[in-house]
Amino acid sequence: MTDNSDSTDSAELEQGDSSSGIVLGATAGGGGAGSAEMVNIPNPIEGIFDNVDPTPGSKKPDEILVAKNVVRRFGGLTAVDVAEVRIQRGAITALIGPNGAGKTTFFNLLTGFDAPDEGHVELNGTSIDGVASHKLAARGMVRTFQLTKALSKLTVLDNMKLGAKDQPGEKFLTALFTPAWRGRENKVEAQARALLDRFNMTHMADEFAGTLSGGQRKLVEMARALMTEPELVMLDEPMAGVNPALTQSLLGHVKQLRAEGRTVIFVEHDMDVVRDISDWVVVMAEGKIIAEGTPDAIAANQAVVDAYLGSHHDTDLTFEEEE
Ligand SMILES: Nc1ncnc2c1ncn2[C@@H]1O[C@H](COP(=O)(O)OP(=O)(O)OP(=O)(O)O)[C@@H](O)[C@H]1O
Ligand SMILES: [Mg+2]
Repeated sequence: MTDNSDSTDSAELEQGDSSSGIVLGATAGGGGAGSAEMVNIPNPIEGIFDNVDPTPGSKKPDEILVAKNVVRRFGGLTAVDVAEVRIQRGAITALIGPNGAGKTTFFNLLTGFDAPDEGHVELNGTSIDGVASHKLAARGMVRTFQLTKALSKLTVLDNMKLGAKDQPGEKFLTALFTPAWRGRENKVEAQARALLDRFNMTHMADEFAGTLSGGQRKLVEMARALMTEPELVMLDEPMAGVNPALTQSLLGHVKQLRAEGRTVIFVEHDMDVVRDISDWVVVMAEGKIIAEGTPDAIAANQAVVDAYLGSHHDTDLTFEEEE
């Protein structure tokens, strides 16, 4: 972040209070996982983009995800028309672009929640064309949603458990009450509780998800995504609607994923957030990838700035429609 002044106080308070197990950030939305200790999170892939060509579709040293000629049409509208995009393993890649650029649709196509009209996607060098989302989770890819999908009438803990591997919803709910599943259930619960702890959400474990604030839902969704131990985590606007103190915490959690060797692709409108945590930026507009580069290069790219940042560079990238 270029300006951390807003969050300094809360970060210190959170750290100071952490020994009691009560986190002040929780009052403001929970999950205030000590921002202070997250300041120096290592970046294991530092410098890996130094020799990468800053053009759409450019090759990366070690690619985890490759999409080619991916097209999705809705009636007469071509929402996604991506010629080629290649994602570096272990890096944090930001996908930016104005509202309606096709970012969420592209995420849906990459994660098996929607099928492209044309094109191919490879995960770790293997085609995942036509593979359903729950099967992709078993192959190491998970995503979160722009609009959170927590089940409001289940507890936070049960929402977490639903994120576990090989457990499609209904079957799992039945299994919860079947003795044969108890051993596995204990393991799943332990894992869920450990993740809630990591995200400083333990105090909310038994609350209905419906009672969470928007920011807390974002945290639970990120925590739940980790239940499958994914190698690739795709986050659609993870910070949207989250208060500033909690945003700092979420940014720390995202950097932590990279420190663990995971790959992150995230959609974001706030350029300060993008510059703070991403190693590489992919810019989408009208369904196409129009630019790629380091955050600094993208922020300084006059075409991108003119077209996508405009006067909103310190707030968000939202485009205003001309009346
Ligand atoms: N299911 C659908 N049916 C018809 N049109 C759709 C559908 N989903 C998306 N679109 C259209 O496709 C285009 C891309 O939408 P998408 O939600 O992918 O954009 P986005 O980049 O995620 O925008 P935002 O930043 O607002 O989230 C938009 O014009 C949208 O209206
Ligand atoms: Mg979207």
